[in-house]
Amino acid sequence: MFPMPLAPDTALAVAPDVLGSLAAMSVGVIVLGHDLRVSVWNRWVESHSGIAESEALGRSLETLFPEVRDSYFLGAVHGAVNGGYPSVLAPSLHAPVFPFFVAPGVDTERMRQQIHVIPLAGGSGCLVQIIDANAAWHRESTLKRKHVLLEESLELQERLLQQLEGNKTELQQQVRERTAQLEELAGQVQDLSEHERAQLARELHDELGALMTAIRIDVTRLTSQSEASIERRERALKNIDQAIQIKRRIMEGMRPTLLDNFGVVVAIRELAREKAAVNSWRFHIDLPDEEMPIPEQLSITLYRVCQEALTNAAKYAEATELRLSLRAGKGVLVLEIIDNGVGMPAARDARQGGHGISGMQHRVLARGGTLEIGSAEPHGTRVLARIPF
Ligand SMILES: Nc1ncnc2c1ncn2[C@@H]1O[C@H](COP(=O)(O)OP(=O)(O)OP(=O)(O)O)[C@@H](O)[C@H]1O
Ligand SMILES: [Mg+2]
Repeated sequence: MFPMPLAPDTALAVAPDVLGSLAAMSVGVIVLGHDLRVSVWNRWVESHSGIAESEALGRSLETLFPEVRDSYFLGAVHGAVNGGYPSVLAPSLHAPVFPFFVAPGVDTERMRQQIHVIPLAGGSGCLVQIIDANAAWHRESTLKRKHVLLEESLELQERLLQQLEGNKTELQQQVRERTAQLEELAGQVQDLSEHERAQLARELHDELGALMTAIRIDVTRLTSQSEASIERRERALKNIDQAIQIKRRIMEGMRPTLLDNFGVVVAIRELAREKAAVNSWRFHIDLPDEEMPIPEQLSITLYRVCQEALTNAAKYAEATELRLSLRAGKGVLVLEIIDNGVGMPAARDARQGGHGISGMQHRVLARGGTLEIGSAEPHGTRVLARIPF
């Protein structure tokens, strides 16, 4: 808190009417003459010193406050009056600059006062201005408090975000686990239903097939030659043959014998040929070697996906041309079925469809693969399944 000398030519000439308005200001104003006697003592100084203007006027500062002797403040006053140097005395916590202007009962008030000592023109005295920095101090401390609160709420927000992030990861993990469980379950259900279909097909073949063949043999052996008997025998044989056909069709639908007997490549080729003939499609087929060893469960998945994709193409695509390919890549089998038809409807309509596409999806997912259904170029639908192999 050393006086800070400014240039000597900044000395003020203060007119008496200006001094009058200084008296009413809300800062402390004291004007001292060249003999250091008080000529202005405004209301702020009155209330902060407890000394009335009438008491102070005409008295020297040292008389009013013996404590100022040898103080920095008095040094600054002498510098202004005798040398024409203005000074600014800033407060410090341990050494209040002007300890006399203290609001009664508020001892710390003086710590926050700043004093300007300004010389008057021609060495006629000086003006002492005491600025109460309290309001600024209050504003600053309020701002600091707000800043702390803001930082605290930012920290809280950060913590909440981290917590949310943690919960999100946990939820994602749960969703992944549940999805994996559901996929496994769907796979098991499909395996079970395939197993039952195969068993039913076998029973149809063994039991019903054997029975029908036996009936057919018996009927052919009926010897009566009456016209009515011959006619009835012919009719019975026709009905039996028709029943055998129906049984075969049901069996094939449940479990194509080709699949079990010759493998998936032959079964898909046959399926494609049959569908192409029924729907008058030009068919391009690209299949791997028939000997290629494909595990049974995977064969069934591939066959069922082909079956559903071709059925859908027949039902909805109005296509004239179809392409089917099955290729073995690095550890993956890629099945692609493309039609040149009208293409899939808008997403909303497709959702109203049946269970064919979701069934394909489940089958492929259950084998750890992916299924994409999209548009073909220049038009039509493309079904693409990739299954680890
Ligand atoms: N190749 C295709 N071309 C045009 N639209 C198709 C094709 N494949 C499927 N779709 C559309 O997708 C919808 C859903 O097919 P999905 O196989 O799931 O059901 P579905 O065939 O209607 O019934 P389900 O298969 O249960 O008998 C169909 O209703 C049809 O509108
Ligand atoms: Mg379908």
